[in-house]
Amino acid sequence: MARKDLLDIAALDREEIEHLLDQSIPFKELFTRSVKKVPALKGKSVLMLFYEPSTRTHSSFEVAAKRLSADVTNFDVAHSSITKGESVRETVETLQAMRTDYIIVRHGRSGLPGMIARQTKASVISAGDGAHAHPTQGLLDAFTIKEKFPDPTGKKVLIIGDILHSRVARSTSTILKKLGVEVAYLGPGSLVPRVGPENIRRFTDYKEAMAWSPDFIYLLRVQMERQDAQFFPSLREYHRLYGISDARLDEIRKRGLYLMHPGPVNRGVELCDAVMDYERSLINDQVENGIAVRMAVLYWLKPGGESPSVVS
Ligand code: CP
Repeated sequence: MARKDLLDIAALDREEIEHLLDQSIPFKELFTRSVKKVPALKGKSVLMLFYEPSTRTHSSFEVAAKRLSADVTNFDVAHSSITKGESVRETVETLQAMRTDYIIVRHGRSGLPGMIARQTKASVISAGDGAHAHPTQGLLDAFTIKEKFPDPTGKKVLIIGDILHSRVARSTSTILKKLGVEVAYLGPGSLVPRVGPENIRRFTDYKEAMAWSPDFIYLLRVQMERQDAQFFPSLREYHRLYGISDARLDEIRKRGLYLMHPGPVNRGVELCDAVMDYERSLINDQVENGIAVRMAVLYWLKPGGESPSVVS
């Protein structure tokens, strides 16, 4: 059963997640062909509505939609009537009149894509809303982990950093738990919420967390733009306690652990420069896989209840 919208990974059951991840494999195989396009969404229109900055999510959704032969419109928020005070509701009503099939939305307010989804027949995908959800990031992270371990049951992922403000931590840990992966959080007590899923271990000490024997280290970006109070003494102190330094990278290399980060990276805060050349860094794989899973999502969703044509 396809859905109209993708707003939160928590709404999907394991079967739907496995289906989307399996569907991503043939789309990724397309990338090695000289012609990387299929006519699956020919005649469909995709509107990109980004109220917050983005490099990876925006560009990979655009590439994904174009590889499916959809028409893509980038709604330029900075030069739109939003700057004259037009509300999101009015904007969506205007866009609805253009009969777009998909609206991909990023917004600083949690739940806003859901509000849009209730107003429109178009399929709405959250490309990140507040600290609530970033469902396609969760999917691409799960896909990247499954490329290394097709059955990831019992594998351990240590998510380090700003859990409190992170929609990525929320969506990625939710999908991994659904796939049977063990998840733990590490960070300053001020950034690792005590409430939340019971079955997620919480650490504040790096050594204790490493003694838990993770298979993957997942660094989160410190989201300075969402912090209205100081959650740790300084960035230098944060790096000393929770960042991957050259010495910690040596240990990670010896133990053969995989490193992940959703981007963008604050170099010298979460990661030292040498991580970029680490042979088990999956950061670029995450970016590439983002296109494949977003193609699978666009192909799977049913705008207005009608089925997209089939990949030939
Ligand atoms: N991972 C992620 O959401 O990156 P962007 O902000 O560049 O889209």
